Amino acid sequence: NKIAAVRPYSDFGKTHIEKPYGRVYTKSEMKEIVDYCAEKGIEVIPEFDMPGHTSALLSAIPSLSCTGKDVKIKTHQGIFKDVLCLAKEETFETVTAIIDEFLEIFPSEYFHIGGDEAPAAHWKECPECQKKMKALGVETYAEYQNFFMNRIIGYLESKNRHAIVWNEAAKGENLDKRAVIQYWKENPAPSVKFLNNGGKAILSPFSYCYFDYDYHTTPLNRVYSLDANLKGLTEEGKKNIIGFEATVWTEYISDTKRFEEFVFPRIIAVSKAAHGENNKPYKEFLDDVRTLRNKLTDYAFCDEKMWTKPRISTVYGWLKFVKDRYSANYIKEQLFK
Ligand code: ACM
Ligand code: ZN
Repeated sequence: NKIAAVRPYSDFGKTHIEKPYGRVYTKSEMKEIVDYCAEKGIEVIPEFDMPGHTSALLSAIPSLSCTGKDVKIKTHQGIFKDVLCLAKEETFETVTAIIDEFLEIFPSEYFHIGGDEAPAAHWKECPECQKKMKALGVETYAEYQNFFMNRIIGYLESKNRHAIVWNEAAKGENLDKRAVIQYWKENPAPSVKFLNNGGKAILSPFSYCYFDYDYHTTPLNRVYSLDANLKGLTEEGKKNIIGFEATVWTEYISDTKRFEEFVFPRIIAVSKAAHGENNKPYKEFLDDVRTLRNKLTDYAFCDEKMWTKPRISTVYGWLKFVKDRYSANYIKEQLFK
């Protein structure tokens, strides 16, 4: 009966912050945000990630996992073995009850249900999951995950909402076509196949569109060069791309200024590219960016010195990324998990 799962402290990479993270929003506070954004022409789409990235839920209700063991609130970023047990009806009932609460807050047509980074380790050991897989006649864990995702997709459809899922969910060929895939990383082939067969997708290729990475890794010129021509995509398939999204995860961004610098001006480049308006030479685009920067004075723009980098800078960026964010212990933990 833990009411709120609040992180007691955080490790933003090597920065340790010894205070509870963030806060809990009430439903009416969340509605206020949704209404405020609507006034500005922005639609807020929620994400309730499942069956992985559910440590907070499992910490509150441990019986939803395969082992039923206590789960600790995580204090740093990562991929964790604690996932929902998909064989238990209690899991479906709890998740849909939570979705019902979300639906009261968010009127959006779309609803993100995650589906990324869900290790199968516990499902492999769980007698109930093994029994369920046999009963369903599914052989891969990707298909087993989709049996659950499809139930949730169907549940949302019954409420006149469309589900969005990360591209990992497209690995199982049985994914419900009514879902929208969000392509973010690794082999695009399953997403391309989904698009070519009439499914819809949002593109967020992470080496262009993830603004939580710094400018060494993802400079402005890199973002500007984004194109939607995924290998093997047909003209018909291309029409099924419904949009782009640049993401800004904040595990390592602890203040608003840094957040804004990571967003501006890269958001201008991704907007141009998403609308196919990135044919203009980069140098001329930079003039437009400077003009916009002079108008958008409410925001902290990243220093111009950082905007443009040669491709090799990515190597430096990645080394810096690992050095700044991961302690030796963390790397060890991830390698030998
Ligand atoms: C993701 O960034 N894990 C979808
Ligand atoms: Zn299980």
